[in-house]
Amino acid sequence: MIKVKGLQKSFPHQGNTQLIIDIEEWSAQSGDAIALLGPSGSGKSTFLHLLGGVLPMDKGVLEVGGQKVSGMKESERDAYRALMVGYVFQDFYLVPSLTVRENVELVLPRSMGKAERMALLEGWFERVGLKERMNQLPSKLSRGQQQRAAIIRAMINRPPLVLADEPTGSLDWETAADIMGLLLEVCEESRSTLVTVTHDRHLAELFKTKLDFATVNRCLGTSPSRGEEVPSEADRRAFAEVGGERA
Ligand SMILES: Nc1ncnc2c1ncn2[C@@H]1O[C@H](COP(=O)(O)OP(=O)(O)O)[C@@H](O)[C@H]1O
Ligand SMILES: [Mg+2]
Repeated sequence: MIKVKGLQKSFPHQGNTQLIIDIEEWSAQSGDAIALLGPSGSGKSTFLHLLGGVLPMDKGVLEVGGQKVSGMKESERDAYRALMVGYVFQDFYLVPSLTVRENVELVLPRSMGKAERMALLEGWFERVGLKERMNQLPSKLSRGQQQRAAIIRAMINRPPLVLADEPTGSLDWETAADIMGLLLEVCEESRSTLVTVTHDRHLAELFKTKLDFATVNRCLGTSPSRGEEVPSEADRRAFAEVGGERA
């Protein structure tokens, strides 16, 4: 499902370029659920941005579902992401002025008929236990409920690849465990391959595959002063795909 070879990515840093990602070889099977662990600043978010076609790589080959993402132009990567990738963020990135249903509706194909659209939405909101809440604004929902809605948004088009960047990082432990369980279940139901960054070793135990990023990424720029507040330009790109910038 995912094949990586000789993948490199650098960022400018204090007048130089700093190599952040250097992966000789890595692959993942279709339908796998992978917990990606590693210290802050070790390039986990950057890796997800490369997998999701949000950022271009400098070198190497990346194939996802038979598509060669490396070598794609930006517009091709945008099309790839829209078709192939669902994204879940730590801070949900729901559009605050839209109901949670409308937030999800943004990612549905425009050609979908009204009745089919409503049935699909109601089915999903029921599935995650939010049917009574679907016409409320995100601010009226708890953080865990907001993440449930964001998971629907990521999953409703049944993407082959789901990327989740610390999806439970801002939730209390009990809610975090619920949300992680839900994410794993819906990915299994959709047979989607799931790559989730998490700090939580207990939650990582829920995953079929645990991957310590240090074992695949040969450069470990883990100075704690960096990596904390990463400019979220790339997140904003991923976010634009889910309708954030159109609203
Ligand atoms: N857009 C960017 N510009 C410059 N440096 C960046 C950018 N994005 C990430 N970095 C740097 O790359 C390193 C890895 O960041 P990141 O992928 O966010 O790590 P992690 O998610 O593991 O905490 C950090 O040192 C960070 O400062
Ligand atoms: Mg990160």
